[in-house]
Amino acid sequence: MANHQIKVITEEGESVSFDCAPDEDIISAAIRQSIFLMSSCREGGCATCKGTCTAGDYEHGKVSAQALPQEEQEEDMVLLCRCYPTEDMEVEVPYTFDRIAYSEEGKEFSTKIVELENVSSNVVKLCLNRSDGENQIKLDSGQYYDLEIPGTEITRSYSPANIANNEGEMEFLIRVLDDGKFSNFLKNGAAVGQSIKVKGPSGIFGLVADGFTPRYFVAGGTGLAPVLSMVRFMKEWGEPQPCTLYFGSTYEEEVFYIDELNKLAAEMDNLTVKICVWKASDSWVGEKGSVVDILKQDLQAASAKPDLYLCGPPGMVDATYAACEEVGISKEKIYLEKFLPSM
Ligand code: FES
Repeated sequence: MANHQIKVITEEGESVSFDCAPDEDIISAAIRQSIFLMSSCREGGCATCKGTCTAGDYEHGKVSAQALPQEEQEEDMVLLCRCYPTEDMEVEVPYTFDRIAYSEEGKEFSTKIVELENVSSNVVKLCLNRSDGENQIKLDSGQYYDLEIPGTEITRSYSPANIANNEGEMEFLIRVLDDGKFSNFLKNGAAVGQSIKVKGPSGIFGLVADGFTPRYFVAGGTGLAPVLSMVRFMKEWGEPQPCTLYFGSTYEEEVFYIDELNKLAAEMDNLTVKICVWKASDSWVGEKGSVVDILKQDLQAASAKPDLYLCGPPGMVDATYAACEEVGISKEKIYLEKFLPSM
């Protein structure tokens, strides 16, 4: 059967076209032709690759109902990593042309576990070191790597909290799910010294040059990792923009990295950290309330409109995005990465 032509149209009306085999999903077809559309989990679980089909027809593979609810499916919204064209297609995506990358993905390399620690009720810190004789970790802060569960070919994508370095060091913050495959490995099989294959980096979420415009970072749960990498990058390179990091959780026991965040704030004159707990007890000394409400109040009071970097579960990211629009932040100033936990 002949390949189908796919045209992806960005927010500002620019487009990129490529072909897609009948049994191929659109994200994989684009990657085969060195076109890197926005994607993350590539298994229908995170909604990063969401678009709207405006012409042509397709079949959809299995997707998470959270990532693509039924009502969105009925409006021809699709997850491109699970979308198999049955004829030529046009798809509109909710991001600008500059978010599409054209470079090769990172290569695979081997690492060893050097640290494994529970840092909250549901988050594990996993530190890896390269073990293939190389020491370079290439990374644009905000990108992610695929980590392979030893003894399987199953991979899961995680953004590291570290920055690029020549020591071979990687630091991941991983949400432990009740029956997640990587979570089960962390709970039952992982140990210091064990080898893990890593591939990457991939992804296009990252810092954008915009003069001295202030930056607000908003993270929910393990969305802290890529945001922390960006702030650490700013520190490393002495970037002077005023920045505020909002870290939101529902309960205090879900908060982690308080010492790391406070230390960073003490070391960076231009950084303010706000750790927000929605259902905080009286003894909580950080911000009390939802991260969205606290951010919104700050945006209303701010004299200069900042650039916004959002990373976390879709509910939090969507609510934050809506709050930003309400206070007059244009969507060109909002960069976001949504993720849903992959089982
Ligand atoms: S990349 Fe398609 S849903 Fe995650």
